[in-house]
Amino acid sequence: MREPGETVRVGIVGGGLMGREAAAAIARWPTLLGHPVRPVVTAVCDVDDRALSWFRQLSSISRFTADYRHLLDGEVDVVYVAVRHDLHDSIYTDVIASGTDLFAEKPFGIDLAAATRIVQAIDAADGGVFVRCSSEFPFFPGAQAVIALAQSGAFGQIIEVVSSFSHSSDMDPAKPLNWKRERRYCGEAGVMNDLGLHVLHVPIRLGWRPSTLFAVLQDLVTHRPGPDGTLARCDTFENASLLCAVGGPGGSFPMTVGMKRIDPGQMNTWLLRVVGMTGGAEFSTRYPKTVRRMRLDGGDQVWQEIEMGSQSVFPSITGAIFESGFSDAIQQMWAAYLAERAGHLDGRFGCATPDEALNAHAVVAAALESDRLGTTVAPDYAVLEREPEVGSVRVAALELGR
Ligand SMILES: NC(=O)c1ccc[n+]([C@@H]2O[C@H](COP(=O)([O-])OP(=O)(O)OC[C@H]3O[C@@H](n4cnc5c(N)ncnc54)[C@H](O)[C@@H]3O)[C@@H](O)[C@H]2O)c1
Repeated sequence: MREPGETVRVGIVGGGLMGREAAAAIARWPTLLGHPVRPVVTAVCDVDDRALSWFRQLSSISRFTADYRHLLDGEVDVVYVAVRHDLHDSIYTDVIASGTDLFAEKPFGIDLAAATRIVQAIDAADGGVFVRCSSEFPFFPGAQAVIALAQSGAFGQIIEVVSSFSHSSDMDPAKPLNWKRERRYCGEAGVMNDLGLHVLHVPIRLGWRPSTLFAVLQDLVTHRPGPDGTLARCDTFENASLLCAVGGPGGSFPMTVGMKRIDPGQMNTWLLRVVGMTGGAEFSTRYPKTVRRMRLDGGDQVWQEIEMGSQSVFPSITGAIFESGFSDAIQQMWAAYLAERAGHLDGRFGCATPDEALNAHAVVAAALESDRLGTTVAPDYAVLEREPEVGSVRVAALELGR
């Protein structure tokens, strides 16, 4: 266990959308109350100098480089990597081999084979490295509430689960091609590589791994303007709909898993809905303050709305009645990563483990096969012959009007 209050030097590889979110979350660390460590971003790497220029406003950064290997010399304690999916495998395994702790972006390798290699590198690392994968939506207070209720057994026998993530950022066919819309960079799984861990992290954590699934995948926009303006092949799946069977002690139940880049009207909607024989709950980032909860009241099934406020896994200075947002969830996720690394998670909800990311890949691989064959497929979770490491699940902080 590391000493509380220690400074942790963080290096960022990939200074794009998520690299900046991470740096901003760490820069406003005083928001958190009594967190056991104090992270400081000291180094950043990007192959594009324009991406690096944003980071020059952060006075804590003394190293700017185009070669991530410069961050592996022992001068940073944790490397966060947020780059294209085809680069995950090589950069993650190099970070791991250097003995530096890694906070990895999803999907944790471009496919199941890459994720397997990454997990094998972790298992083989001399002296051990601490590795977790980014998945921030469970850190919304409303998501924590649904997880806490599911875990408490309040729902009784589960009837069904819906876990989905939808936006509509690909509605416009004139939107130019970028790496997320090209199979060679994003992966054959397309949208499932972008959104898969977001929708599978909580079900896997709660023990709801699909035993079989049937998938329908859609490549809705086949061409987009390329760099020179002429139409180029856009060969990724935009939408994926999975109907999964989940086996449980009380019998199996259906779990619908949706991942959509083209869902008209949705902007960044993460949804978890669980309904059982004695209760249910639903949280969506579309209504970020509100948890809907079902309880039995005599013969009535009563759906209530509960306003959640700002407090999530780690206490913060933010007034309890204020609302929570995306950047708060990112900061809470970082707080969980760094607390667990320091040995101070103390049973709180932890970040996605490498094995959970690997299991998500197994589901995605089964979905690709199901769509290809037009049949039901059973995911192969036995890619590693050992007990998978499941992250911490207890949700201690939330009391939801029992
Ligand atoms: N957790 C989330 O909510 C979330 C959201 C978006 C993206 N992501 C994930 O984050 C990762 C990055 O996505 P993004 O949206 O930030 O991408 P981005 O394109 O905005 O940024 C990627 C950056 O990596 C840089 N880069 C490319 N090759 C590099 C190399 N060899 N070394 C160093 N830098 C290099 C690029 O120049 C670019 O600045 C992906 O894995 C993606 O799936 C996660």
